[in-house]
Amino acid sequence: MTITDLEQNWESLGQADPLWAILYDPARKGNRWEPREFFGTGQEVIDELMTHIDELAVDFDRGRALDFGCGAGRLTQPLAEHFDRTDGVDIAASMIALAQSYNRAGDRCQYHHNTEPDLSLFADESFDLVFTEIVLQHMPPVLMLAYVAEFIRVLRPGGIACFDIPPGYARTLRGTLTRLAPAPALRWYRERKHHDSVMELHCIGERQVLEFLASQPVRVIESRKLPDPDYAVTARRQYIVQRGELRHDDTQRRDGA
Ligand SMILES: C[S@@+](CC[C@H](N)C(=O)[O-])C[C@H]1O[C@@H](n2cnc3c(N)ncnc32)[C@H](O)[C@@H]1O
Repeated sequence: MTITDLEQNWESLGQADPLWAILYDPARKGNRWEPREFFGTGQEVIDELMTHIDELAVDFDRGRALDFGCGAGRLTQPLAEHFDRTDGVDIAASMIALAQSYNRAGDRCQYHHNTEPDLSLFADESFDLVFTEIVLQHMPPVLMLAYVAEFIRVLRPGGIACFDIPPGYARTLRGTLTRLAPAPALRWYRERKHHDSVMELHCIGERQVLEFLASQPVRVIESRKLPDPDYAVTARRQYIVQRGELRHDDTQRRDGA
């Protein structure tokens, strides 16, 4: 899957049934998400995240935040309550248009359409927090890690990046099929199910992610298991890292789950 495929897939999903494509729920297919309920789920995610970061006692500024793969702004809008300025970026123009229509933070929240396999639209050291959720899993692993390196590049020293990656496929029928079925068969199935678009699911094991992070100018504050497994992948892991001059082996913490 190339970046152009990714853009076309999400653009088509964004035009056909955006809220369902963002937050998969079979009962909401056919534009049946009620926006208030949909955005309420985002508020819960960000409330939990900010409380969790406070509990970790990580000291960082609340100047500027980035929501990567912002979709309709489900997570961007509650993030904007915690930062002076918040930016959302998405590969699909239809998603950006939708996010703008739901913006209630005025100029303090800006949305950007970006179809590059990087974040070159942002200068080095621009953000205090880079956040993403349920975005990286839909792209090939090499692209996931390229974006993670970009999250770190655009972080200010002391800033935090928080991103999720599923570590493996679930031992369910769906997970096994996703892992083993030939790519053309999966594509055929998904094209029928997802409005002629292909929502791929990819994983990277925790050890490989941590090895990658060890090559980056960050310390790993935490790798934690998130509670909501998808049918096809095991529970996602959320990585919280801080950019700085600290040594990589300094205060590393793992929950071991
Ligand atoms: C499952 S949705 C999640 C949206 C949002 N994070 C949320 O949880 O509400 C994935 C989003 O990521 C966007 N996306 C996928 N690949 C992207 C990329 N390479 N760069 C920016 N956005 C991307 C899609 O257009 C889509 O809006």
